Amino acid sequence: MNWTDPLDEMLRCRLETGRKTVTPCSLIIFGASGDLTMRKLIPALYHLFHDQQLPSRFRIVGVARREKTAESFRAELRAALDRYSRTQPVDDAVWERFAANVSYCQGDLTDPATYGRLQTRLAEGDDAALRQNLLFYLAVSPSHFAGVAEQLHTAGLLGKNEEKGWQRLVVEKPYGHDLSSAQALTRTLTQFAYERQIFRIDHYLGKETVQNLLMFRFANAIFERLWNRDVIEHVQITVSEAAGVGSRGGYYEEAGTLRDMVQNHLLQLLALVAMEPPVSLEAEAVRDQKVQLLKSIRPFTPETVARQVVRGQYTAGGGNGQPLPGYRQEPIVRPDSNVETYVALNLFIDNWRWAGVPFYLRTGKRLPRSASEVRVTFRRTPDVLFAAQCGADLDANALILRLQPDEGITLRFNGKVPGTNLIVSPVRMDFGYRAEFGAYTPEAYERLLLDALAGDATLFIRQDEVETAWRLVDAIRVAWDGQPLQAHEFYPAGSWGPAAADALLTRRGHHWKKPQANGQATHETIG
Ligand SMILES: NC(=O)c1ccc[n+]([C@@H]2O[C@H](COP(=O)([O-])OP(=O)(O)OC[C@H]3O[C@@H](n4cnc5c(N)ncnc54)[C@H](OP(=O)(O)O)[C@@H]3O)[C@@H](O)[C@H]2O)c1
Repeated sequence: MNWTDPLDEMLRCRLETGRKTVTPCSLIIFGASGDLTMRKLIPALYHLFHDQQLPSRFRIVGVARREKTAESFRAELRAALDRYSRTQPVDDAVWERFAANVSYCQGDLTDPATYGRLQTRLAEGDDAALRQNLLFYLAVSPSHFAGVAEQLHTAGLLGKNEEKGWQRLVVEKPYGHDLSSAQALTRTLTQFAYERQIFRIDHYLGKETVQNLLMFRFANAIFERLWNRDVIEHVQITVSEAAGVGSRGGYYEEAGTLRDMVQNHLLQLLALVAMEPPVSLEAEAVRDQKVQLLKSIRPFTPETVARQVVRGQYTAGGGNGQPLPGYRQEPIVRPDSNVETYVALNLFIDNWRWAGVPFYLRTGKRLPRSASEVRVTFRRTPDVLFAAQCGADLDANALILRLQPDEGITLRFNGKVPGTNLIVSPVRMDFGYRAEFGAYTPEAYERLLLDALAGDATLFIRQDEVETAWRLVDAIRVAWDGQPLQAHEFYPAGSWGPAAADALLTRRGHHWKKPQANGQATHETIG
């Protein structure tokens, strides 16, 4: 960024004051040779180091089964960084200084000897902070979460004794398979660590634009007073993916879209959009309000699931002229699979602010484009002034929060088309992140890793949030159990999902709006 004008200077000062303080520590990554480590964690750590956000003294220890030396491990990480870093080329000098802090500890997670070796490694050196301040990142299959925590505890590396340094556990998604498995996992983990030491990741919350939802709502005077049932007609949240399940068929067969996307990302987005203002930006204050909101969602019954929830699965189709396989033809997917790759739902929040306002959420794979967007549609004006000349049903005002791609905010309202005739047309005001702040957009994992190292749990999911979300989603799952997909629940790859999803809205006089395409002008959303 170029700090030349006074506004930039002001921003720079704010960035400095907003800096996190991280004490010297060791970061231990379990699953150090996996996809997540290579694609996300190492690039994020390198950028934090590059931006001098990591403490002056730190070390990273990777743990996995495959045999490798520290040198070959670093060479693998460097190759991954060259491929996945958000800035290219990688700065050799910075990399060398970063890599000097990285080592490898080979071992099977189920073997107690692994933890003995890790303990010995962590005890090396005379820097007490590096020996005592420990962040364990579990980038491994969830089936290992409980076992690793127990073994770390047995080896004396993780415990509830917080007098000497700190120890934290970062756990990846999925956190449980349903309510009871999530509760069981929490019961196990909290035998070895306090809830406040457990950092459950939802990487969606690390995205700049998702965090900006909080700023947008609570750092501005104009919108929050409109944020209620008196002014808002309905809210749509879309998280669409153009990709299919690809090589993740095995995982998807167990998960499905409801568990993979709705239970976490979509409900988290909803909570940020709709929650009450927290008393402060402290982690517990923000999380209290998110839980409160999730608890206010009207629970689903088998009857409301039938009316208000639509599932779908993609069949062979074509996107951009390319033939695309159906879900049942993807690798490791059962040829008669009933797993959903699309979910749309209409829910209600039974609280004072939102009573009666429909919230529509949808997400799916093999939709026409990848985009995430929150669209708030305001109530219309009464048709008294312009109906005679312009027809009834003036376009409703809308606020569109684009989370990706082309992150920004659009306010859509009505204006007069220049000319002698009285023609009213929707126009827009646009704020684009890139235009305003330049291309600097840290990856979600940079923010989340830094927060976990700094002990700030605001963007991590608390036990009661996870459980409330599972309770909601389990009710839908139970209603679907034993019900094979019907013909009308399939949608061709490259389309916007099953027709039944449209009916969810049209019965209330609403329509899905297509999210904006990358770099495309907003003609589609105007009209
Ligand atoms: N990849 C993503 O983009 C992504 C996104 C969100 C969440 N996640 C979550 O992150 C976690 C890891 O995902 P991933 O995609 O990185 O998985 P992955 O590519 O399959 O990597 C798994 C890692 O675990 C290690 N491992 C497996 N069994 C082990 C054992 N018994 N002992 C020691 N190490 C073992 C593997 O190393 P060895 O084979 O060398 O032992 C490997 O490093 C999962 O919970 C996943 O749901 C991943």
